[in-house]
Amino acid sequence: MNQFSLKDKIILITGASSGIGRSCSVECSKSGADLILIARNEEELQKTVSLLAPDSKAETIIADITRAENLEELIAEKVSVLGKISGFIHCAGIEKTLPLKKHTPQLYADIFAVNAISGFEIAKNLSLKKYKSEVASFVFISSVAGMVGEIGKSAYSASKGAVIAGARSMAMELSRSGIRVNSISPAMVNTPILEKMFENVGEEAAEEIIKKHPLGIGQPEDVANACIFLLSDASKWITGSNLVVDGGYSAH
Ligand SMILES: NC(=O)c1ccc[n+]([C@@H]2O[C@H](COP(=O)([O-])OP(=O)(O)OC[C@H]3O[C@@H](n4cnc5c(N)ncnc54)[C@H](OP(=O)(O)O)[C@@H]3O)[C@@H](O)[C@H]2O)c1
Repeated sequence: MNQFSLKDKIILITGASSGIGRSCSVECSKSGADLILIARNEEELQKTVSLLAPDSKAETIIADITRAENLEELIAEKVSVLGKISGFIHCAGIEKTLPLKKHTPQLYADIFAVNAISGFEIAKNLSLKKYKSEVASFVFISSVAGMVGEIGKSAYSASKGAVIAGARSMAMELSRSGIRVNSISPAMVNTPILEKMFENVGEEAAEEIIKKHPLGIGQPEDVANACIFLLSDASKWITGSNLVVDGGYSAH
């Protein structure tokens, strides 16, 4: 039996329409999982579905995770089709690089709503006996920005620090329910969020950021592979941890 396999596991993934979430969806399907995929952009989510391993089953939920009051019902519907959930990746996220003087309470609220609170709320629902299989693993995508300081990232960093801390406490509380909870902190990964960020900071600053990665910028699969490990039985003794996947960025 391959301990790293996700065969017979049903995994729910937010942010599945782009970047790291799309890659997590594709790689989890190749590892044998069936999937429930969530995002707002239906066309892009369907594109993700078209990239999945042909024998994997996938259900989609088109929703804004910060607004969907009926998200629990939508998830319940999909669970009744595919079965109980044994894995969750909270990958949906938004990023804003702005000087502190341009930060507003609304900016903090908007970023926290997607990056942290929505993920915690979905995890709360999935921890209920009626939705979760006997054992389960939850993975929150944080960021190195939640661990080390970066200019213009006060709100984003704060939200990602909250993800690491929230996941750790959740791990303590949910261990008795057979649920492991971990976070992953990537540095810069080649996705649309990064392209946008580089446009904001300008070419020179972008070059400086790239230079800070001893192994260069990451690819979405680099993070997806770490997710597969944390979702699989190979990591059955790991909970409450923050796995740094950063090409050496935070080792300076
Ligand atoms: N790329 C990097 O360098 C990097 C580094 C460290 C951490 N991360 C983290 O990794 C995660 C994925 O980033 P990425 O680079 O893959 O970004 P991305 O390509 O921009 O994807 C972001 C995803 O989040 C979804 N999303 C955003 N707001 C949503 C909302 N209100 N409701 C539902 N879905 C929402 C988007 O889907 P829709 O637009 O279709 O809703 C999209 O699928 C984020 O949490 C990010 O902070 C990224």
